[in-house]
Amino acid sequence: MREYSIAAIPADGIGPEVIAAGTTVLESLQKRMGDVKFNVETFDWGSAYYRKHGAMMPADGLAKLKKFDAIYFGAVGAPDVPDHITLWGLRLPICQGFDQYANVRPTKILPGITSPLRNVGTGDLDWVIVRENSEGEYAGCGGRVHRGLPEEVGTEVAIFTRVGVQRIMRYAFRLAQSRPRKLLTVVTKSNAQRHGMVMWDEIADEVSKEFPDVRWDKMLVDAMTVRMTLKPQTLDTIVATNLHADILSDLAGALAGSLGVAPTANIDPERRFPSMFEPIHGSAFDITGKGIANPVASFWTASQLLDHLGEADASARLMRAVEKVTGAGIMTPDVGGTATTKDVTDAVVEAIQSSNV
Ligand code: IPM
Ligand code: MG
Repeated sequence: MREYSIAAIPADGIGPEVIAAGTTVLESLQKRMGDVKFNVETFDWGSAYYRKHGAMMPADGLAKLKKFDAIYFGAVGAPDVPDHITLWGLRLPICQGFDQYANVRPTKILPGITSPLRNVGTGDLDWVIVRENSEGEYAGCGGRVHRGLPEEVGTEVAIFTRVGVQRIMRYAFRLAQSRPRKLLTVVTKSNAQRHGMVMWDEIADEVSKEFPDVRWDKMLVDAMTVRMTLKPQTLDTIVATNLHADILSDLAGALAGSLGVAPTANIDPERRFPSMFEPIHGSAFDITGKGIANPVASFWTASQLLDHLGEADASARLMRAVEKVTGAGIMTPDVGGTATTKDVTDAVVEAIQSSNV
């Protein structure tokens, strides 16, 4: 029996609903596979915890999480707690403290889901965006002086280090190499940003020599939005800075039909620390408690979690089950269906147990 410990942090908004659905699906896989066991321990951290204790998680939060094999995360964000507190109090300290420098965001058009692009369907769009997750524009380097005065200054300095760029490039080239098309697009803005971005390009070129079987090209980020929209078939693996990939991954989610299905993995490729898996969609307060949150992103990210643990069969089975269910039109309202979170979850569980998935 292969056993894994998973720390679940459902946190805010629809987070608890979709993580509960995901945990049900993991239990179902455990039953179906028979030789694997997931021990899920849930932590009540988040905005409710903040209202009680004045912090999003306890001071020894990271020490508590460190011993787990993976972290399964819901969403943070609450109407009455400022965003920078919820974000910098829980999710970012985990990403940064555990040096989860590779943020991996797969996108494809699932069966049954319609892309807003004309003549683009399942199979035309199958991308993985690799987002640099530890530095760049999110380094938090900057400050404000002369507050409130006419001469006030605010700086937000993007930091690019050779180590940081090299490791994300290697990760992206390796991932591209593992996919059938062996195709990587490096996103840049070195025409306008002539220091960090020029170094980014140079390091991409150096690292590419280690991967002679990977075809790669370079795109300026503005032109990249056009290529994603007009020629989605020409892209496969994509690597971009923290901010560029943040923007491009929202576009990717929209082009694939819904942000409600988009997953993300915050990975420490060296496996010194647990990696963290989460849906991209956020806390969605407008639909919290209504039972209609789309659980597909949390299933998809659970499949990324299983891949990371080396459970490729379970991961593939889960995605086949999800695609069978979306293909049958069992979907929540955000993607045009009438099903509830529970309907979708029950259908995925049934598909997992059925012999033809
Ligand atoms: C994302 C989100 C976050 C980000 C926000 C909530 C700060 O947009 O995961 O893409 O920009 O990293
Ligand atoms: Mg974003």
